[in-house]
Amino acid sequence: MNRLRTNPERLRRFLTEIAAFGATQNGGVTRLALSDEDRDARNQLKAWFEEAGCETQIDRMGNMFFVRPGKNRTLPPVLTGSHCDSQPQGGRFDGILGIVAGLEAVCALNDAGVTLERDLIVVNWTNEEGSRFTPGTTGSGVFAGKLDRQAMYGLTDRDGLTFGEELERIGYKGETDFDPRPLHANFEYHIEQGPVLERQDKTIGVPKGIVCLRWYDVEIQGVPNHAGPTPMNERQDAIYAFSRMAGQIFDIGLASKDVVTTVGEVHPSPNSRNVIAGHVHFTIDIRGWDETETDRVCKAIEEAIQNNAEATGCTVDIRQTWAVERAPFHPELVSLIHDIAGELDLPALDMVSGASHDTVYINQFAPSAMIFVPSIGGRSHAEVEETSWSDCAAGADVLLNCILKTGNDAADVTYSISK
Ligand code: GLV
Ligand code: MN
Ligand code: MN
Repeated sequence: MNRLRTNPERLRRFLTEIAAFGATQNGGVTRLALSDEDRDARNQLKAWFEEAGCETQIDRMGNMFFVRPGKNRTLPPVLTGSHCDSQPQGGRFDGILGIVAGLEAVCALNDAGVTLERDLIVVNWTNEEGSRFTPGTTGSGVFAGKLDRQAMYGLTDRDGLTFGEELERIGYKGETDFDPRPLHANFEYHIEQGPVLERQDKTIGVPKGIVCLRWYDVEIQGVPNHAGPTPMNERQDAIYAFSRMAGQIFDIGLASKDVVTTVGEVHPSPNSRNVIAGHVHFTIDIRGWDETETDRVCKAIEEAIQNNAEATGCTVDIRQTWAVERAPFHPELVSLIHDIAGELDLPALDMVSGASHDTVYINQFAPSAMIFVPSIGGRSHAEVEETSWSDCAAGADVLLNCILKTGNDAADVTYSISK
């Protein structure tokens, strides 16, 4: 079958130009959610999509929906997109690739003179990363009815600024909600963010779903004291307690076949070289495909934290701040991605998504699947994050043809979401 193609040069230009918003000296981006850089990138996306003939809708969470009208606007639309916020010192592809590839799909459809049967909506979900405001995937989580909007408005960053005020400040707090449900199909195109595709020499990753995730915030209380006169056996050193805990958290993950465990943030206090730390705040990120094994790992980690607090004379408070169940994708949409990759002569691989994505929430009410392309060296959430331009274009071609197929599905075609 003759498949449509995207324009690789235009896609590269979109990706290069949007990477200027929050560009870092080492080739990455710092575009934290609801920052000035996020606002500027949003303004650019809006201008590009409107130039390409789309209508813009912004909801009360700042989610941006760019709508390309279809022939029959009463039919459930096709959704694609991702997020344009980044990690601190993050990469140029994470999230934004899925939005600009959606834009490129719109442009390629325009070039080919194709009006789809259904509306096509490209979305920019607010605060996917969860780095500045925790938890992440807040825009899609509220949209899915799984997170409370008012509670999300009240989230604070490290400077005490709230999500709601920052959303308003950057001019992206919509006055009403936009609800295009039911959705016919949802495709999120993303970089893999791990080493599997590159190692297996495949161009397209076809995840069967997204791993489940648990986040914790832990506070260790010790006793601050002088680093010189205090005898070693009389210390209640919160950093010592933390280091024992961090070592065990790593080892518990290492011993599990399925689950990965990460201590990502550490805030010792007072953080002075000649003071025994009185307090440490740290975070844990735990993920796995097997929910039971993930819960077992969580329990083992909670016990290890308690035991190490007792052994070091400290006290500890452990709070689970986020839990998301795993997201198994729609089998027919997963097969469609395989079929299209095959027709485009792109080698494809079945896999699982080890990273989380907005689709983890959208999948709960809409038939969904994802398309991955290789991350060079398996590096992501870092400035060196890289994907070749040809792989970016290959994934965009797969996305375009998924949109073309499902966007032209007749009114009686449905993908049931029961799994
Ligand atoms: C999102 O970037 C994640 O943490 O997987
Ligand atoms: Mn992402
Ligand atoms: Mn990310």
